[in-house]
This record gives sequence, C-alpha cells and structure tokens, in this order.
Amino acid sequence: MIFEMPKSCDDARVWRILVPIQKEFRLRSVQLAPNNFGSTYEHELAFDDEMWASRLRNPLATTFVAVSADCDTNASRKSSSPSSLESALCWEWIGRLILMGPKNEGSIHPTGSRSPWTGMANSHEAETEASGKVLHFHVNGMFVDPSRRGAGIGIALLARALTWGDAFAKRSGSDHVRYTMVVDQVNVPAVRIYERAGFQTYASETAITKRKENGGKSEVILTERRDRVSV
Ligand SMILES: CC(C)(COP(=O)(O)OP(=O)(O)OC[C@H]1O[C@@H](n2cnc3c(N)ncnc32)[C@H](O)[C@@H]1OP(=O)(O)O)[C@@H](O)C(=O)NCCC(=O)NCCS
Repeated sequence: MIFEMPKSCDDARVWRILVPIQKEFRLRSVQLAPNNFGSTYEHELAFDDEMWASRLRNPLATTFVAVSADCDTNASRKSSSPSSLESALCWEWIGRLILMGPKNEGSIHPTGSRSPWTGMANSHEAETEASGKVLHFHVNGMFVDPSRRGAGIGIALLARALTWGDAFAKRSGSDHVRYTMVVDQVNVPAVRIYERAGFQTYASETAITKRKENGGKSEVILTERRDRVSV
C-alpha cells in the first residue's frame, strides 16, 4: 500500500513520533545505498530535529511511502483501510519517494551537484508558487528496502507521485506538467524505472556530490516527462 504523508498533525505527540520514523528511514536509505544519492549518511546524520520536521512540513515536498501490509498484525486488526497517519505509524515502511514542487517551469534547475531541497523554501505555499501554464515537479529520494526490491514497488511509488502531480496541475488550471529526475548512469534499476514511466533523457553531466568515492564525481542523466493536463 502507498500513501501520502501528512504535512502536519494536530496531535503533537503523534507528530513527535512521525518525524523520527521518517528520519530513520531516510538515514537507512543513504546508509544502504551510498552510491545512489548525492547526499551521504554522515552529512544527514548531523541534521537536527527541526531540519527533519521541516522536510515533512515543507509545502513544496510531498512524501509518498510504501508500507508492508503483511508485517504488523496489530495494524491489520486495527482497520482494514487505515488513514495515512495510521499507516505511517503502524506499518513497516518499505519504500519512499519525494515529489518536490510544483514550481513554475524555469524555477527548478535539476542537477546532480546540488540538493533538490535548495530553493524549496518553506515559507511559500505550493499553490501560490505554481500559477503558470507549465508546472514543474522534481522526483527525489526514491528508495525501496533491499529485501523488497524487484517487486514493482519503485515503479508503483513513481506512478502514484505522477498521478498526484497531474491532479494538482489540473486543479491549478495549468496546461502542462513537467517531471524531472536525476539518475546515476550506472544505476540500472533507477534507469529502468524512469524509462518505464515514460521519462526521456534530455542532458547528462558530471555531478559533484557529497560522496567520498571518485572525489564525489558521478556521471548522471537528467531525465524528464511532459504531460498535457486533460480538462
Ligand atoms: C531504484 C529502486 C528504488 C527500484 O526499486 P524496486 O522496487 O526494486 O523497483 P521495481 O521493482 O519497480 O523495478 C523497476 C525496474 O528495475 C528493474 N530492476 C530492479 N532491480 C534490478 C537490478 N538489481 N538489476 C537490474 N534491473 C533491476 C526491474 O526489473 C524493473 O524493470 P522491468 O520492469 O523492466 O523488469 C531500488 O533499487 C532502490 O531503492 N535503489 C537504491 C536507491 C536508488 O537507487 N534510488 C534511486 C535514485 S535516482
């Protein structure tokens, strides 16, 4: 099951549990896949609690989480169709993806050399940031637990994010929506996912990342998909 993480929660005690769950999953991602992200475990370990909370709250970043429906019997007893909040708290997280944006086209500059979080200010509401004809979303931080890979979870997470973005663009009266992803050339599973989702390569670059290997240099592909918004 895939759900959209809430950006806030009225119950402060629940929020205080959610933030560390998200933090632990992300830290595990960068620790287990050190060669697939521009950031590193060591870099993100130094983030304070406010940084992790602000990433969840950010109106220009929507987190999609895949959970395992077969792991937590307490959760399955609790409800047959749990809310996003119940899912986040009760079920084991097995995959995650963040859809950054939207912003108007021209406001996001995808690159492997800079964190996609740069320029995604907390202070602006997403609706007012994106009022143009072409909305731009950027796919970030995709990760599936190694024990669950190859079962279609990655592609399902991306499909869910694209459906969400298309619906957002329709609501905001845009004509087109553009999605981008930055992928390491040698990351075969990620390349397969963007190909299957209809993304196309539009550029490549040598990115300077925070990784230790190869002086942080990495050959990456910049990919995009453009959808016409149906009325
Ligand atoms: C990339 C990642 C999210 C894919 O997740 P997943 O749930 O295994 O993906 P899917 O099961 O949806 O498979 C997607 C495609 O990749 C292929 N694939 C999966 N693992 C593969 C592997 N080890 N080698 C080659 N192809 C592989 C699948 O066969 C499928 O292609 P197909 O439909 O043509 O058969 C996962 O491998 C991961 O978390 N990697 C580490 C982090 C990462 O690289 N993130 C992406 C950063 S851009």
